[in-house]
Amino acid sequence: MMKKILVAPSILAADFNKLAEEIQLVESSGADSLHFDVMDGHFVNNISFGVPVLKSIKGTHHMVNDVHIMISEPHKYAEKFIQAGADILTFHYEACQDDHEVHEIIHLIHQLGARAGLSIKPNTDVKVVEPFINHLDLVLVMSVEPGFGGQEFMTSALDKISYLRNIIDERKLNCFIEVDGGINNETATLCKKAGVDILVAGSYLFGHEDIKERINLLKE
Ligand code: DX5
Ligand code: ZN
Repeated sequence: MMKKILVAPSILAADFNKLAEEIQLVESSGADSLHFDVMDGHFVNNISFGVPVLKSIKGTHHMVNDVHIMISEPHKYAEKFIQAGADILTFHYEACQDDHEVHEIIHLIHQLGARAGLSIKPNTDVKVVEPFINHLDLVLVMSVEPGFGGQEFMTSALDKISYLRNIIDERKLNCFIEVDGGINNETATLCKKAGVDILVAGSYLFGHEDIKERINLLKE
């Protein structure tokens, strides 16, 4: 049976002057989740948006709010993002002091009624995820250095996706594999072959007339 590929447009690439329209457009074009790239200018060298934007969007669409927090001290902000509407809250392994803190944040996110995701940067070994995977709802494999949209896809993400696919299937876990950065119809094909479940795409989707066709291509 063909696996369903999910598409999560990243609003970082959207025109914020008409954000409601852009969200409407991707939802009517078949997107499954809305990917929010929260950046604090400390964990990554860029500042994007935070809780007020998420709050203003909550309840205006029926997609999953897939919130990717590229911030330091994620434990301090988890509750605020979940209250603002995060359905899935994905934080960075590299933002945590140790494995104990990672476990604590996963537990906190679940206690607050959201699903927990863990993201790893390109230079982080995928094996660091192994101790947490039984408790995670999602693993986000970065295929670019976090901080900016419009970057080139890094093929090192593919082996990580396959590694995770094997563990998740072997242990029959309910954990999604998501890839993020430089995704277009070509790189999406490579990621699907490797076993990905969710494709995040920003610059490949927003700002293009044929957004519906592009989403269909990613889902093929
Ligand atoms: C990068 C973000 C990505 C990025 C994707 O730090 O996490 O979600 O916005 O943008 P594209 O698809 O243009 O690479
Ligand atoms: Zn992202």
